[in-house]
Amino acid sequence: MSDKPSYLGLLNAIAVNEARAHQYLQVWIDKTTDPEVEAVLRTVAWREGEHGMSFAKRVNELGFELRDRDDLDLADRLAVAGSDRSDLEKMEYFGQDRLDEVLGAFDNIFKDHTIDIRTGELLGRYVAEEFDTARLLRCCYEQLKARQDEKPSPSKAQGRPVAADATSGELAALNDKVDALCRAVEELRQIVCAQSMPTKAS
Ligand SMILES: [Fe+2]
Repeated sequence: MSDKPSYLGLLNAIAVNEARAHQYLQVWIDKTTDPEVEAVLRTVAWREGEHGMSFAKRVNELGFELRDRDDLDLADRLAVAGSDRSDLEKMEYFGQDRLDEVLGAFDNIFKDHTIDIRTGELLGRYVAEEFDTARLLRCCYEQLKARQDEKPSPSKAQGRPVAADATSGELAALNDKVDALCRAVEELRQIVCAQSMPTKAS
């Protein structure tokens, strides 16, 4: 029987994904001019960074080494995080307005009854923090959205029909949402499938 824990790939996937999120959130923090958004992003960024380090540390403690991945579109994410898009658009791009919907994939983590106590503690705290992060981000998103909805659009302000503007704007927003959903699904697929990922013993 292999000495490799069945959940090693899961730990590796979480470590890599969380560390990447910490990176692009830092870039976004440097760019935003909204102190409320900055405060939320800082809380989330510290959590993500700590998760990345803690899970990498746990992989090491179990006698293995982290396997990095180059398939997570980090360059694209860094570019969007540092772009002139609004905070609201960035939240939609990163799927942060509905993280709690996709985090349901974590409901099955503890179906693996071989998870050791230390790793179980770490996973339990991690999942609870991720759901809290989802609540924080959704709340921040809804505030930004409400603020945006209060502003009259340029067309409305000038008394012109808004149908054409609304259509292109809605299409762009829908496009971003579909992209974000695809990325979220892909990340979760990687996490769910991660247990079969071969991991090199140190
Ligand atoms: Fe996370």
